Amino acid sequence: MFETLKQPAPDKIIELISLFAADERADKLDLGVGVYKDENGKTPVMRAVKEAEKRLLESQESKSYIGLLGDLSYVDAIRDLVLGDTVEAGRVCGAQQPGGTGAIRQIFELIKSANAGATVWISNPSWPNHEAILKYLGMNVGKYRYFDEATCGVDFAGMKADLEGAVEGDVLLLHGCCHNPTGANITEAEWAEVTDLALAKGLVPMVDIAYQGFGDGLEGDTKGLRIMAARVPEMLIAASCSKNFGLYRDRVGASLIISRDEKENAVNKANLAGLNRVNFSFPPDHGAKVVSIIMNDDALRADWKAELEDMRLSMLDLRQGLADALRRATNSDRFDFIAEHRGMFSRLGLTPEQVMQLRTDHGVYMVGDSRINIAGLPREGLDNFAKAIAAVI
Ligand code: LMR
Repeated sequence: MFETLKQPAPDKIIELISLFAADERADKLDLGVGVYKDENGKTPVMRAVKEAEKRLLESQESKSYIGLLGDLSYVDAIRDLVLGDTVEAGRVCGAQQPGGTGAIRQIFELIKSANAGATVWISNPSWPNHEAILKYLGMNVGKYRYFDEATCGVDFAGMKADLEGAVEGDVLLLHGCCHNPTGANITEAEWAEVTDLALAKGLVPMVDIAYQGFGDGLEGDTKGLRIMAARVPEMLIAASCSKNFGLYRDRVGASLIISRDEKENAVNKANLAGLNRVNFSFPPDHGAKVVSIIMNDDALRADWKAELEDMRLSMLDLRQGLADALRRATNSDRFDFIAEHRGMFSRLGLTPEQVMQLRTDHGVYMVGDSRINIAGLPREGLDNFAKAIAAVI
């Protein structure tokens, strides 16, 4: 039977990991996959995570199953982290998921069960796996303009114009903060406008929030999402602890649903549990338990927040540093937007040929659409990197 299979197209982000590893140049630079790195180029285990893992090791007495939805103290913690008290708890249900990708996949499956004909509208561009999963599930994908190539900001007029093509029951997928891959984000006022649009057209918003805490802080990064959550009857949220808890490989995420009322919430909750059952039964416990321990201990939570804030400020610093270095190297303000963007990524607006030249001539690895991982930038080598860019443009 397997002779029918074709070689799948590689994922452009994952492919970069092996291309970078195979490059033997000592001064190569990895700005590819979205993983935080400190000033030594390391992706640390966060202090609070280490401590929570110690406590877990000492206190855990059983590894028996917990429940299909996972650890509910974890799910509640993520609900509070993302939504605060914006929506009454009786209208929100959630399930632990293996990473943000697991949450996205499950929510798409839920949409498919509820309304197989719905189109899921994603930004152009978006994280490539959004479209890949939707296509794998045989779902309809719509795209709305998002990135203005000329300004490297958001093309909000284009976004609204394209969403006029959406129909009642369609799903509008937004990035909660730190847009991936562009780094360009809609303002709070624009969130309010998109909320009006979703309400007027009967669209169901879905928010992918994978970088909470990396842009404008833990609270700041949820402002837009909460403006929307306060007004819409239904909303879907995919959250991830990969980045803000540094738990990448432990696969820690959550799907959350805001329902119209408590009765529908009970049904939605049962559907989340049912989807977990047919996909993997019980979600993996370790990382979620670690998050729950941190979020339910005042000192650990405060330490986690402090370390996360340091990571955020360090990325902001690198943004400003790179924008300044590019001013010097190019004698222009063309790249000033890098300091305005937020989160882990910025799309530089280079052509695929320029991206390839940076790789071949300078050993710089970025995604083909010219997305760079800000955290991967060398603090001491910003001028060199800026000169390499200046050389290819
Ligand atoms: C990224 O965009 O680089 C990260 O979200 C990692 C991934 O899985 O693609």
